[in-house]
Amino acid sequence: MQSIAEFLTDQQVDEKLQQVIHSILSASKEIAFQVGMGAMSGVLGSTENENVQGETQKKLDVISNQILLDNLSKNQHVRAAASEEEDLPVSCHEKGAFLVAFDPLDGSSNIDINGQIGTIFTILPAQDNLRADAQEQFLQSGHQQLCAGYVLYGPSSILMLAINGQVHEFTLDREKSDFFKTTNNLILPPGRKEFSINMSNFYFWPGYMQTHIQSLINPELIDEPFNMRWNGAMVGDVHRVLSRGGIFLYPTDTKKPDQPAKLRLLYEAFPMALLVENAKGQACTESGRILDLTLTELHQRVPVIMGDAELVQAAIQ
Ligand code: AHG
Ligand code: MN
Ligand code: MN
Ligand code: MN
Repeated sequence: MQSIAEFLTDQQVDEKLQQVIHSILSASKEIAFQVGMGAMSGVLGSTENENVQGETQKKLDVISNQILLDNLSKNQHVRAAASEEEDLPVSCHEKGAFLVAFDPLDGSSNIDINGQIGTIFTILPAQDNLRADAQEQFLQSGHQQLCAGYVLYGPSSILMLAINGQVHEFTLDREKSDFFKTTNNLILPPGRKEFSINMSNFYFWPGYMQTHIQSLINPELIDEPFNMRWNGAMVGDVHRVLSRGGIFLYPTDTKKPDQPAKLRLLYEAFPMALLVENAKGQACTESGRILDLTLTELHQRVPVIMGDAELVQAAIQ
């Protein structure tokens, strides 16, 4: 089996970019270790702080964020980092060529129930005409992502990486402390009748979404009604969609009038959209392709509909 280092060299990935990916993976191995120790390492439970998203931070949100920042700030090729858990970008090295944005711990509500959680990341080119920690550094289009991925801390720790237009899956060998390629050029399997959406928001969705989801489950409207799965962690739900097909949706809703969309464009929607599109699926908001968007605010939120191309097209019509 090919290690991640062998793979990146084989793919002729820019050497500085390779080093940035390795820094992210070093951090993810530390996080995987802490997650695996659970209650014994004292990482479970909440803090008393609220993040910029208006969420109470879990201890593991804070710990994972710090592990990533520590690893990235040691890497001279990183200009700045942006995180779901930080109000503003963190400046790293004035001459670094890359920006890293991440959701250090996705699926926070699963931490204390030993459910699926993960780290989502994307790497963008640094812009030379701007200060290292300027928010404008990150105001780039989804197409400018140089690579993106996630590490899912499940029964196995799995890295899914979108790079050079393809998606590859790697599994963490805990004994060797290294990721090895377990699936080459992953293609999202078509034809699976399965959706992933928080059904408790049904009465708060726009009418078109209520009608669409009803059309997938009402036996009077469809011969073979869809199955449903919801992990409450995008990383786990999108991993299932990439692995066996189907669709993931987090549409707008009116539950919190000042926050119509939940998922963050930079830390969640952009990286997952690159993975899904590189795996030959589609990733849209309610009005167009996610990758065509340009970030206008660091913590901007967007509706997300991604997965099997046919199912995405049916959902947004
Ligand atoms: P995070 O834990 O990083 O704040 O992200 C949680 C997100 C995403 O992972 C998941 O799909 C969604 O929130 C779950 O939302 P519900 O609370 O509606 O289930
Ligand atoms: Mn959060
Ligand atoms: Mn998240
Ligand atoms: Mn998070």
